[in-house]
Amino acid sequence: MSFNIAIDGPAGAGKSTIARKAAGRLSFLYVDTGAMYRAIALGLLERKTNLQDAEDLKKALAEISVTIRYDGQGQQQVFLNGENVSSQIRDEEVGKMASASSAIPQVREKLTDLQRGLARKENVLMDGRDIGTVILPEAQLKIYLTASVGVRAARRYQELKEKGIPCSLQEIEKDIRDRDERDKNRSVAPLRQAEDAVRIDSSEMTVEEVTERIVALARERMGENRA
Ligand code: DC
Repeated sequence: MSFNIAIDGPAGAGKSTIARKAAGRLSFLYVDTGAMYRAIALGLLERKTNLQDAEDLKKALAEISVTIRYDGQGQQQVFLNGENVSSQIRDEEVGKMASASSAIPQVREKLTDLQRGLARKENVLMDGRDIGTVILPEAQLKIYLTASVGVRAARRYQELKEKGIPCSLQEIEKDIRDRDERDKNRSVAPLRQAEDAVRIDSSEMTVEEVTERIVALARERMGENRA
């Protein structure tokens, strides 16, 4: 049987950086589900789909196909109708569309089987918003990774500054608050901590410390599972 780790939490808590590192150390497959939602969002943007128009949305979703593959370095690559869109999906505009479109049940249904199928076959560390609550409720280890809004905004600000992208800390903070609101208050698969998840607040922790904590918890649970 495969061993599954679910990591959920709000945007900017450091999930993907930490999940990638922890998965590498444990030799698990890292599954970034946000990238899948972003790929669908890109497909919707390309088609100029009106999310409020049920017919338009249905037609677009029927045309959109998302698949993933792992490259030689074990990095997840995401494909939209056969085209590798792994870089394109990182645009701010795509992130906003992903946040809006991921609240639509038909969008979520499109990815459920893909995500569950991967976890059935392999030891995965999967990150997202609803992995421990909806996608893999039987995961052997669940983590809810969070950080204060102020810390998340400051990290994002630093990231953008390093890339030479002009930005304002205030606007970033507002964006983060808005996204949290949307992710937590949507009616399908809202972001919330699973009852049996271990909560880690990364506000005062380094990436290395959080990674170590998750790896240690995973090793402990894997030991228990073998016993
Ligand atoms: O983690 P991210 O920023 O790449 O995710 C993009 C958007 O997709 C985010 O606004 C929330 C949504 N998402 C989701 O609803 N469920 C997931 N399992 C992963 C992401």
